[in-house]
Order: sequence, then structure tokens, then C-alpha cells
Amino acid sequence: MRMKGKTALITGAATGIGASITEMFLCEGARVVLADIDLDRARERALAIGAESSTLSVRMDVSDPDSVAEALQACRDAAFNVDVLVNNAGVIHVGTILETKLEDLQRVYRVNVEGVFNVTRAFLPAMIEQSGGVLLNMASLASLTAMHDRFAYSSSKAAVMMMTRSVALDFVKQNIRANCICPARVHTDMVDNYLKTAYAGEEEETFRKFSEYQPVGRMVRPDEIAQMAVYLCSDESQMVTGSSFLIDGGVLMGV
Ligand SMILES: NC(=O)c1ccc[n+]([C@@H]2O[C@H](COP(=O)([O-])OP(=O)(O)OC[C@H]3O[C@@H](n4cnc5c(N)ncnc54)[C@H](O)[C@@H]3O)[C@@H](O)[C@H]2O)c1
Repeated sequence: MRMKGKTALITGAATGIGASITEMFLCEGARVVLADIDLDRARERALAIGAESSTLSVRMDVSDPDSVAEALQACRDAAFNVDVLVNNAGVIHVGTILETKLEDLQRVYRVNVEGVFNVTRAFLPAMIEQSGGVLLNMASLASLTAMHDRFAYSSSKAAVMMMTRSVALDFVKQNIRANCICPARVHTDMVDNYLKTAYAGEEEETFRKFSEYQPVGRMVRPDEIAQMAVYLCSDESQMVTGSSFLIDGGVLMGV
């Protein structure tokens, strides 16, 4: 029980990486708030995991400060005093700068950048009052290296990495730690959805190409991200803050 006594809020918890982190945190003894723009799906997920007394599902649109404030109040009302915050919700746009309209850029930044800002600003003060807490942000391999056709996404995830370090530096003396994980491609709905829309007609070939891009030869599994999340959000990592952790199957090893 590596997370016993902790209460975590995970954004984008209804599916993919967030759902996997939720499941593993619960297995390790944490209570978990599943926060997602899709409340029904979050509830279904909590039900499927089968740990109802240890979970709270809330609707939260991370890009909307009012929605985040309502979710914070719901956590307080249910006595879920969050001391672990996982900023995981994120969206993607596929395209070069010339294939990215201003609305595309704004949509990605509103969720990936403003979302981390809104949720952290809302939940950090109580963590400080409670004498400490942990933040974990979901950045990306794209935070560290340029990737083809990921103009909006890469730049948003570079911001996530620097927001992580900034918060870590400013609040280290208040017993707040902040780290981020930088995964390469993880096989989730996000990947399946953009294969269907941005690579229509060449889904299988692109799936193979993206898998082979990662020298280990496959995409990452969500539970492989969740394993690291447990380490970074538990007391095992008390000396770890302001750091970025690559899980990339070796993409950057020779660079
Ligand atoms: N899948 C990958 O290859 C990959 C790689 C690197 C980083 N990441 C990052 O990991 C995180 C999770 O990715 P995933 O692949 O599990 O995504 P996903 O699309 O499978 O799931 C995202 C979840 O976030 C929720 N969500 C979307 N917009 C929201 C909003 N405005 N407010 C609250 N919830 C919202 C969705 O409802 C969904 O449940 C994202 O930040 C993503 O950028 C993913």
C-alpha cells in the first residue's frame, strides 16, 4: 500500500492514462477523485474499477476556471482533501504551423496549458495549508524534441514541462513537490482517434510506423505510465522534485 492515506485528484481520469493511474492509485490504497469533462464516463470507470467508497467522480472542464472551482467545492463537500494532484487531461491537434488554425492552437492551449494553470491554482493553496502535497503533470516526449506535425501539441507540452519546474522551485519550502512524465506514444483512445481522423485510410501503416519509431518496437502501455506515477506521487520519491521523466522506449537514447 504505497499510497495509503493519500487523496489524489486525477484530471482526464475517465479513460486512457488517467484511468490507468486511477486504478493503480486505488490498488495502492489512495482515495481518488476522478475529474473529467465526461462525468458519465468517469462514473462508469469508477464503477468498473469497483472501489466506490474510495472514489468521487466530478465533472471538470479543466479549461474553465468556474468548472474547476465547482469541482473543488464538490471535493470539499465530500471531504476529499486532495494532497496529490495529477494534471493529466490533454488534447492534440495534428499539423504543421500552416495546418494549424488559430482556433486549433487555442483549443490545445486552453486544455493543455490553461488547464494545468487553472487546476493547479485551484488546488495548490489547500495543499500548502495541509502542510504539503505532490503535483504530477503529464507532459510528453514532444516537450523535449520536435515531432513532425505536432506544432500546437509540442509547444503546449513544452509549456507543461516548464510550468512543472516553476511550481517545484517556487513551493519547495512549503513541502510541495512537482514532477512531470514525458511519454512517447501510449496506445490509448487519443492515438486511435487521431489515426482515424488525421491518417484516415492509412491507420494500420501509421500505427506500425509510430510503433517502430520507438526503438523498443511498440507503443507504451498506460499501466507503464501509471507505475511511474505511483512512485512520483508516493513518499518513496521525497527527494525528487522539478524533474521530467522520459518513458520513450529509447527514442532519445542516441540523441
Ligand atoms: N497517448 C499518448 O500517446 C500520449 C503521449 C504523451 C503524452 N500524453 C498525454 O497524456 C495525457 C492523457 O492522454 P491519453 O492518451 O490518456 O488521452 P485520452 O484522449 O485517451 O483521454 C483523455 C481524457 O481527458 C478528458 N478530457 C479531455 N478534455 C478535457 C477537459 N477539457 N477537461 C477535463 N477532462 C478532459 C477526456 O474526456 C478523456 O477522458 C494527455 O495530457 C496527453 O497529452 C499522451
